[in-house]
Amino acid sequence: MQHRVAVIGGDGIGPEIVHEGCRVLEAAGERFGFDLEFTEFPIGADRYLETGELLTEDDLAELGRFRAIYFGAIGDERVRPGILEKGILLALRFHFDQYVNLRPIRLLSGVTTPLAGKGPDEIDFVVVRENTEDFYVGIGGRQARGRGHQDLEVLRSLYSVKFGLDIESDAEELAYQIGVVTREGSRRVMEYAFDLAMRRKRKVSSVDKANVLSDVYGLWRDLFTEVARGYPSVTTEFTFVDAVTMWFVKNPEWFDVVVTPNMFGDIITDLGAMIQGGLGLAPGGNINPRGTSMFEPIHGSAPRYRGMNVANPIATIWAGSLLLDSLGEHEAAAAIVTAIERSIADGVVTRDMGGTASTSDVGDHLVRQLGGRSSP
Ligand code: IPM
Ligand code: MN
Repeated sequence: MQHRVAVIGGDGIGPEIVHEGCRVLEAAGERFGFDLEFTEFPIGADRYLETGELLTEDDLAELGRFRAIYFGAIGDERVRPGILEKGILLALRFHFDQYVNLRPIRLLSGVTTPLAGKGPDEIDFVVVRENTEDFYVGIGGRQARGRGHQDLEVLRSLYSVKFGLDIESDAEELAYQIGVVTREGSRRVMEYAFDLAMRRKRKVSSVDKANVLSDVYGLWRDLFTEVARGYPSVTTEFTFVDAVTMWFVKNPEWFDVVVTPNMFGDIITDLGAMIQGGLGLAPGGNINPRGTSMFEPIHGSAPRYRGMNVANPIATIWAGSLLLDSLGEHEAAAAIVTAIERSIADGVVTRDMGGTASTSDVGDHLVRQLGGRSSP
């Protein structure tokens, strides 16, 4: 069996952590009897600065021939924030319609959590973040001082009716951004969440802010109720996003599958990363079950540590395990997570986890445990 995987190392520490990830995946392949063929794509800040290209038509056509993309990180101090994030990472998520952002929040054994009295039995849930809608659709505008608001009739009336203000004089500089939730966009990510819950503890929690943003999240709630009807054996609950940040900390054991709109999902999964031991340990998958999916650590490119061989590769290697899972290599995927837990028990961990191992030491150790060769 052979699997073809596209690799985008990207910027900063991206290439070195993905390199370790590819080695570990190969070792898992040797042990479980499949081959991996990696194809690298030079997408990222360097190429952008050289040629002005973020993602080309050719990149997208080529990448579309793969079922899985293994992604490191993007972000570079030479490029204004937002350009690479929107032009590469979000563009890939949207282009390939990767509507599920799957983020396991699981405390591996041997890892310390800042939550007192909680261990691996209490911290084990999955966030299913909607990945193509909400405030990420990129509809918005910004009016500079003195330019007038001719295209903002709705805001103009809102201002005068609701606040009794004249938008021209009282808000002469303003910006707005629109969140979009659709029936189909909500249905598909919720069905994914419920299907996942059927294979776990059969509980799905929905996150929203329907008490204030009642149009967008009112529709979200309606869809949750509709989809839940098809899964009578699954326990469900509605939560508000502000409260959920409280419960993640106080009672993480309540959660099994958490389904959330895009932006709240972004925020609560950084909180999740901390309770599972830090950003160095948090993997994510951007999934289109019928198309091209992409797997990445949820942390950024940490350009300060580029090329120093000190970054923690575990999030990326765990993301590699999610990648194998998506290709049907479930045993190999599980073996990688077990090997990660063993290397933590062996104390082979990087500085952020209180150890002295380098990026490649962690990779070597994992490759050896999986029974492969340890040469890079
Ligand atoms: C994430 C990141 C991205 C997001 C950024 C880099 C665009 O924070 O994957 O969580 O907001 O989704
Ligand atoms: Mn984020």
